[in-house]
Amino acid sequence: MFRSTQIYGALAAVLLLLLVPLATMGCSDDDEEENAEMMPGAACLSCHGPGGEADDEVFSVAGTVHADGEGTSGAQGVVVTVTDSQSATVTMHPNGVGNFFSEASLSPPFEVTVTNGNASSTMSGATGDCNGCHAAGGQVGRLVSP
Ligand code: HEC
Ligand code: HEC
Repeated sequence: MFRSTQIYGALAAVLLLLLVPLATMGCSDDDEEENAEMMPGAACLSCHGPGGEADDEVFSVAGTVHADGEGTSGAQGVVVTVTDSQSATVTMHPNGVGNFFSEASLSPPFEVTVTNGNASSTMSGATGDCNGCHAAGGQVGRLVSP
């Protein structure tokens, strides 16, 4: 009796040691990494597009507006407006890290305006994965607040 209690006690301790770190890892994945502030600057639609790893949450348009070309912080108070080829318009307010995204049904090509107070910059002929082109080392530099 005494022996088997000791064995069960040891087994329980081992299980706890294994389970506690696993549970903690699960939490940080869900709460800190895979949310609206995830991976600023990354090409969102590579995962949030049809067939992507996060295609339960498909975006028609998504990206990041940075405060500066270094990409160290998100632009605050800017507005991103997208008008599609059928004149449907979506207005997005980037969050704390500068990320913006929409699941609205849109058909490219898009007319895009990024507004910061009285300043604005525009682009014609955009498609939805803004950071796919706008990235350090990409076809054009990071998307920066006007
Ligand atoms: C490497 C793949 C990958 C990239 C790149 C990526 N995501 Fe995600 N994202 C995920 C996964 C996986 C989840 C978990 C939930 C899911 O499958 O929708 C997630 C979840 C989210 C959620 C929460 C969805 C919900 O309802 O819980 C948002 C919002 C989001 N991502 C926005 C973005 C934005 C904006 C970008 C680009 C700046 C981005 N993601 C880039 C894989 C990615
Ligand atoms: C296929 C590549 C590509 C995609 C996708 C793309 N852009 Fe661009 N973007 C460019 C290029 C190249 C320029 C510079 C020349 C021009 O203005 O057309 C540019 C210029 C801009 C400008 C003008 C200011 C600047 O940084 O030069 C803004 C604003 C802009 N894009 C926003 C967006 C937004 C928002 C999205 C997503 C809806 C987007 N772009 C998607 C390639 C792209």
